[in-house]
Amino acid sequence: MTESSVETHDYDVVIIGAGGAGLRAAIESVARGAKTALVCKSLLGKAHTVMAEGGLAAAMGNVWPEDNWKVHFRDTMRGGKMLNNWRMAELHAKEAPDRVYELEEWGALFDRTKDGLILQRDFGGHRYARLAHVGDRTGLELIRTLQQRAVAMGIDVFMELKIVKLIHDDSGAVAGALGFWRNSGEFVLFRGKSFVLASGGIGKSWKYTSNSWESSGDGHALALWAGADLIDMEFVQFHPTGMVWPLSVRGLLVTEGVRGDGGILKNSDGERFMFNYIPPMFAPDTADSVEEADKWYDDKNFRRPPELLPRDEVARSINSEVKAGRGTAHGGVYLDIASRRSPEYIRRRLPSMYHQFKELADVDITTTPMEVGPTCHYAMGGVRVDPDSTRATVDGLFAAGEVAGGMHGSNRLGGNSLSDLIVFGRRAGIGASERALGMTSTPKISEALVNDAISETLLPLTRSDAENPFSVQHDLQETMQDLVGIIRTHRELEEAIEKLEVLQDRVDKVGATGGRRFNSSWHTAVDLKSMITVSKACANSAILRKESRGGHTRDDFPKADPEFGKINHVVSFKNGAMSVTPAPLPVMPAELAVLFEDAPPVSNPTPKGGDK
Ligand code: FUM
Repeated sequence: MTESSVETHDYDVVIIGAGGAGLRAAIESVARGAKTALVCKSLLGKAHTVMAEGGLAAAMGNVWPEDNWKVHFRDTMRGGKMLNNWRMAELHAKEAPDRVYELEEWGALFDRTKDGLILQRDFGGHRYARLAHVGDRTGLELIRTLQQRAVAMGIDVFMELKIVKLIHDDSGAVAGALGFWRNSGEFVLFRGKSFVLASGGIGKSWKYTSNSWESSGDGHALALWAGADLIDMEFVQFHPTGMVWPLSVRGLLVTEGVRGDGGILKNSDGERFMFNYIPPMFAPDTADSVEEADKWYDDKNFRRPPELLPRDEVARSINSEVKAGRGTAHGGVYLDIASRRSPEYIRRRLPSMYHQFKELADVDITTTPMEVGPTCHYAMGGVRVDPDSTRATVDGLFAAGEVAGGMHGSNRLGGNSLSDLIVFGRRAGIGASERALGMTSTPKISEALVNDAISETLLPLTRSDAENPFSVQHDLQETMQDLVGIIRTHRELEEAIEKLEVLQDRVDKVGATGGRRFNSSWHTAVDLKSMITVSKACANSAILRKESRGGHTRDDFPKADPEFGKINHVVSFKNGAMSVTPAPLPVMPAELAVLFEDAPPVSNPTPKGGDK
């Protein structure tokens, strides 16, 4: 096949991924006059964005007037155990409120305070109730709003089209993206001046995950293969509460909004165990008795219940309870909101959770506790970007949202992902369109490179009697779940790395029967290339981080090590080989560093409004 026979499109900006970040980037790019394509491998609107259910974090001060960007910035950095890129965290905290008001202007129907302001709910690690929300369907509303706007602007959308390779021009800049239509199997080439990765996460490489089939790490892998750096790939977030039963839906998200609205965690002895796991760093903010925590719920006393510690802390605590034999029959713990809130309140605030448990587990959460356990939810690691422009370390490439690294450090606070998508989605739209509009012509790319990429992608269809991709995918997920999971050791990571090399060999030889028309076996064979790449990036970074921090817990190095607190791990890929090297953290300027000098004041602020 030659380039001339491939469907080809020329654009200024090509955006890969159409969740919150991709949609927001496209809106900005088009608004600035760039001819823009939005490409997604699933249907428009079906993105992991919808799995951020409980809200989007922005210091608007609608419920707590004391809230401001500095407190949000500090919470985000502390939640990430100070490994975050400070500039990204600063931009995020400063710009999130404007992005929320913009969504409101574009038609998002947020829940309201009694005074008619956007209501903000409590979430783990946030000092103040700051999550703007729409019941427990916030991600869905965000997507709906952005999608409606994008459609109204007439943005060109290419749905069910999987990108397999980024292609460089002679200068080494990314100038093309090759993909195929999932329904016909026919190839499509996008030539462009700027390419934005907004492809989401990597969770499908684990067995129990809140992520859907799309999250195979395509954007992470595309960036790495194109010569861009990834950072922080060892940090994977296990959301504390996924469904554990029935097995067919194990991993499905149970929103943190349940705890934010008063839900508590109990073990099989009926003990509210989170009081036993309050780390010193968060002790000044956290209630240390049931009475004190209950007072917070009832009177807004300011010491927070331990169920609202950051996710890494809560997920590890649940894991320890189950390991100690205090778990439920199906290997989880109990999440109880029934004894805390009225059935009417639960159905109004958490309608999706109510239906999810009723339909899938035959459990009425207004009367009965839920069984929950950690589920792989989010990649903190991703493409290393310039914070202001979202530019990657290869010319012509930009990244925003979950596929970008740096913003969340070693652990993301709940609610900070939706705000990340819209803050950095917009910035990616600006960065990419500015580069594109500053160029006079579309860069040229070599036909040979395109043809090589096509041949490589078709290889699984040419192998007869080869291994089935689904069995390789199964073994990869088992390996990552068992050996690169929530708690890690050197021995297990070493075993994982060995197994991943064997799996790489199997991925390279996998075969797909049938033709190119909607062939899920071929699609899985192609997805596996991304999955194995990101899994290796994760395991190889994890083995080098000999400490426990955020989403990376080492049983053999249970404490945080100040020396590792000074570095990010950078993953790069040259001449077919992956390497991981340390890079010093960017130095935080004095005017921000001073925010961490004093322990945050323990006060009793008066809320302006609220629904509690
Ligand atoms: O629990 C949740 O609703 C998830 C939110 C998030 O990941 O930000």
